[in-house]
Amino acid sequence: MRTLLNRWLLQGWFKPALFLLCLLPVIWLTFGAINDHLGANPAEALLRSTGDWTLRALCLVLSITPLRTLTGLVALARMRRMLGLFVYFYAMLHLLAYSWFDMGFEVADIAKDISKRPFILVGFAAFLLLTPLAMTSFNRAIKALGARRWQALHRLVYGVAVLAVLHFFWMRAGKNNFAEVAVYALILGTLLGWRLQRRLHGGALLVWLRSGWFDRQVERPRLPTGREI
Ligand code: HEM
Repeated sequence: MRTLLNRWLLQGWFKPALFLLCLLPVIWLTFGAINDHLGANPAEALLRSTGDWTLRALCLVLSITPLRTLTGLVALARMRRMLGLFVYFYAMLHLLAYSWFDMGFEVADIAKDISKRPFILVGFAAFLLLTPLAMTSFNRAIKALGARRWQALHRLVYGVAVLAVLHFFWMRAGKNNFAEVAVYALILGTLLGWRLQRRLHGGALLVWLRSGWFDRQVERPRLPTGREI
């Protein structure tokens, strides 16, 4: 089953199909804006939707490694770079929507707003942290930096996740509406927690999960008597 799924993920059409799937939100939003289907406040709908899609793409990209490790679907790694770039793409659209609809592209007003409103500052910090990751997501950058430094740099994505949840939390705090924030915090907390436990305990939870749920057929070490250890 796993071999079949891996083969499926490696098919030539899979990446272009995923690319189109990731473009669907922006196509849908453009269509909605052109046809006046975005409700009473289209500018707010565009700003919020692009923020939501940035966060969703971030959850997706951070779930690749745990999914790949737990299921053995190694071909998933091929999707990571594209999904990472989509996080940046939606973050750029979100920043563009803010700069345009809220601020009329007035750079001085944007700078003042960022320094005055903490939730905007936190969102902006997340965007700044994402920038070097997007800039170094190409093979030449990986080669130039070297694998170790590249990996260390790309750990900034964990900081982006924390800042993104804080940004959302702060924005919703004014409205006392935390249900959605809690869902994203739980998802991202689980994904970061999984990595942390791997670092701290050398993947003890992973071994347990794999031997229990996902990989019962994995050969366990045996005593000379033939009994499983
Ligand atoms: C990684 C970066 C970012 C992420 C993940 C993110 C995510 C979000 C999310 C999820 C929302 C709420 C959407 C909703 O209510 O459904 C939001 C709203 C918003 N964000 Fe961001 N954001 C980011 C960066 C930024 C930046 C750079 C700015 C501006 C400098 C910004 C300004 C805003 C504003 C103005 C709102 C709407 C506030 C309102 O309608 O009251 N965000 N963002």
